[in-house]
Amino acid sequence: MSEEPMVDEFDTVAMWTADAVDELGQDHALPAACRGSGSPAALRWLADRLELVAGTRLLDSGAGVGGPAQMVREERGVEPMLVEPMKGACLAAARLFDHRVVVGDGAALPVEDGEYDVAWSVGVLCTVEDKAAHVAELKRSVGPGGRVGLLVFVRTVADLPDEPEGNHFVSADELDELLRAAGLEILAASYLDDHPAAPSEWDDAASAVDAVVERDHGDTDAFKSAARNQERMGDLIKDGQVAGRLLACQVPQI
Ligand SMILES: C[S@@+](CC[C@H](N)C(=O)[O-])C[C@H]1O[C@@H](n2cnc3c(N)ncnc32)[C@H](O)[C@@H]1O
Repeated sequence: MSEEPMVDEFDTVAMWTADAVDELGQDHALPAACRGSGSPAALRWLADRLELVAGTRLLDSGAGVGGPAQMVREERGVEPMLVEPMKGACLAAARLFDHRVVVGDGAALPVEDGEYDVAWSVGVLCTVEDKAAHVAELKRSVGPGGRVGLLVFVRTVADLPDEPEGNHFVSADELDELLRAAGLEILAASYLDDHPAAPSEWDDAASAVDAVVERDHGDTDAFKSAARNQERMGDLIKDGQVAGRLLACQVPQI
């Protein structure tokens, strides 16, 4: 069995995903590259609350294969910069979308203080232990008056029976408290379920990419480990034990 499920899921599978999109066509890229980001409608809600408009300098921390950043780049003309620790995901994001991307850790972002207008972290905080360090870095990268967006999967029950490896869930109240303690003002919050689900063509495209990846790599330990982790996460969401919380925050002006 693989000993690094997070690497399998976010590094190895990322490269396989880019290969599958090459085969199926670029119209499959966006759905395949939004990994755990919820629906386009939920992302648009977040983009509205963060006031993403043409020219906004957006830092995407834990950008994965770059789907969410690409969506707002196409729809709103923002200029995203991606930071992501998994080299395979960085290469895939550059290959699929020609993104500007740097290998880096969200707890020590390779950016200047206040270099960005908006920083977001989509589906990442639940995969890291030191959430406060990540939030502090998002805040530092935008500075006073800047905005910070989050999608965080939170637990809705006291104990989770089968936590996917590498995930560390907090409750919504704990998350809000953590953000306030970091000095962020919460402007708006919602849950993924409050927004329309992805259209069927979107899901079909993502499933077609998954099928090609499974066809080519389904017998590998890395595939099995990533699939197991995704399945556990999917079950927790389906059972309502974990829910995706969207938050738009602001760093107060000094
Ligand atoms: C569920 S994926 C979400 C990817 C992307 N944001 C999206 O919505 O499609 C979680 C991402 O967090 C990244 N990640 C894990 N540890 C991280 C860290 N210390 N700093 C930044 N990103 C991290 C993973 O590599 C992975 O790409």
